Amino acid sequence: MSERTLHFGADYYPEYWPRERWEVDARLMRDAGMDIVRVGEFAWRVFEPEEGAYDFELFDAAIEVLGRYGIRVMLCTPTAAIPVWVQQRYPDVNVLDVSGRRRSWGARKNWCYSNPTMRRLSRSITDAMAQHYAGHPNVVAWQTDNEFSYSGCVCDHCAAAFRRWLATRYESPEALNRAWGLRFWSMDIHDFDEMMPPLERAHSPAHLLDYRRFQSDQVMAFNREQVETIKAADCAAKVTHNFMTTYSGIDYRELARDLDFVANDMYPRDITRLEDCAYGHDVIRGYNGGPGFWMNELQCGYINRENQLRTPPPGMIRLWTHQAISQGADAIIYFRWRSCTGGCEQFHSGVVQHDGDPVSRSYREIVAIGEEVQRLRSEGVAGSSIENSVAILRSFDVARAMELYYGGRLFDYDAELQRYYRPILRQNVGVDVVHPEDDLSRYRVVFAPLLMLTTPDQIEGLRRYVAEGGVLVTSYRLGAYDLHAVVPTETLPGDSLVELFGVRIHEYDCLMTDAPADPTPLVAWDGETYGTCVWADMLEPTTAEVLARYTNEWYAPFAAVTRNRVGAGQAIYVGAGLDEAFYAHLVPWIVAEAGVSPFLETPEGVVAKVRLVEGQPLCFLLNMTTQEQVVPLPREMHDVLRGCATPPELILSPRDVAVLR
Ligand code: GLA
Ligand code: ZN
Repeated sequence: MSERTLHFGADYYPEYWPRERWEVDARLMRDAGMDIVRVGEFAWRVFEPEEGAYDFELFDAAIEVLGRYGIRVMLCTPTAAIPVWVQQRYPDVNVLDVSGRRRSWGARKNWCYSNPTMRRLSRSITDAMAQHYAGHPNVVAWQTDNEFSYSGCVCDHCAAAFRRWLATRYESPEALNRAWGLRFWSMDIHDFDEMMPPLERAHSPAHLLDYRRFQSDQVMAFNREQVETIKAADCAAKVTHNFMTTYSGIDYRELARDLDFVANDMYPRDITRLEDCAYGHDVIRGYNGGPGFWMNELQCGYINRENQLRTPPPGMIRLWTHQAISQGADAIIYFRWRSCTGGCEQFHSGVVQHDGDPVSRSYREIVAIGEEVQRLRSEGVAGSSIENSVAILRSFDVARAMELYYGGRLFDYDAELQRYYRPILRQNVGVDVVHPEDDLSRYRVVFAPLLMLTTPDQIEGLRRYVAEGGVLVTSYRLGAYDLHAVVPTETLPGDSLVELFGVRIHEYDCLMTDAPADPTPLVAWDGETYGTCVWADMLEPTTAEVLARYTNEWYAPFAAVTRNRVGAGQAIYVGAGLDEAFYAHLVPWIVAEAGVSPFLETPEGVVAKVRLVEGQPLCFLLNMTTQEQVVPLPREMHDVLRGCATPPELILSPRDVAVLR
């Protein structure tokens, strides 16, 4: 890849516009401080107008014009949207959905990852592009396809591949019956050939889960073929793929292993979602194994999704941009350069509007952000590190399993993690989002809520973490699933977790459904009483001390929050979902107990994030409110964006950002 620099650019579709316009676009991009555009992900018909006939002239010419203005490209393989010749020659490439409908041409992501023809066509176009562009000085990186997702395909190719996949994982049909609990409703099989993709929503959760795992593996194989094809032509090529933040349809952790770095797409929509965005950036940094991920698509104006959405007010895009950089993005690429006239996204804003006129506020704001990005480049932001001593454990398996129950959702996993995330964020304590099998030893506190699905290895890792001095916090439904989403028969949370947390559970209450007249549990802690939601485990301590109890109805006197000391550390169990105020109280208490202090105290709604440039903190202050905020500073610092020394009290206007060294 190129030298390490903070990239700034947009998703560009030269194939939609007259050639005479390219030069105008390139100049406007350069004037906005841009150095990169992502191109090509929907241009298969341009690259391969008919099967086997390749044509790179249009993109060669566009890349040449862009290059003259200092703009280089991220090139995408164009397989996301198939040209009509693919569908007409090979109609079976299209997804067969659960209702038996064969999807058609005219959309995107409507083809099957298991289809051998599609795989062959993908390898051919990728190879032709990779051969043509190998070593091209203006190609900075590659993106495979676009936003891989679960296809939902149940075609014969998928069914056959699924059976083969199962036969390599289960010793025999009986072993599979046992592992999935298939005696239920006579679903057990005698031969792998009897197994089918799940077509009914009442299929066993184990069946649904393994079908997702299988389909995810098909996507991994598809991606791997493209990555290997690109690298076979150009061993120096850097390849990524654009993720969809917390999406759980395919295994992003595994996908990340096959990429040189992770890229993400984010459409924050409005100011009320900034804390979700913060969480999303931390999730993505986790997949990337640290900072240096790219934003391949960041919202830069009104968008059309379910409907046409609001136009972001002045300052909003700037705030989204700095938020992403502060949390580890080394490239900001806006979706899209220019609003397009046709197609189902015709009311989706670009950096420039349909008229292409640079007087628009959208363009002028990006120009101003580009100037700030240039200042951050001089500060050496790209490649800088982020070091945190608090982590949130997010298991991809849990995320996926929670979404499949009865064709619906068992729990909102990310919502539960965010109950803990928000008070950490508000405290200005940096947090990493990690996986149960990552190295936890560098963290003083690990929050592991709703760890419903675990493996013996993961449990052993957690035990070791606590024994060696870590503080581990979990919440309800711990250990209630095995790896196959089957319920274990040991008393909850299962023998080894009983030992770690020092509690047993025989009773619980689901608080998400009907019976609105029945009282829900109340929990008393540290002089306050809190309401509960979602779920409540009734904790019976074996060796744990009780921190909080339920106080009403049949819930009293079960324990609600407990702490067990194991070796040099502690394991805390929070039995229920609780009011927001509870976490605002509990989380800072735990963080302080573990000896972690906030980086800076700021008024509510102002978030401080730190990137370490050669060990020195570069502090981003983000005003996530629509009011002016005053931030007292502990000492004089250098205000990087304004280019001056800071006053003792920094004033941030609504949605304002400051970067301090
Ligand atoms: C996704 C896609 C883009 C575009 C945007 C619209 O992120 O990758 O091609 O459709 O959504 O918001
Ligand atoms: Zn299929």
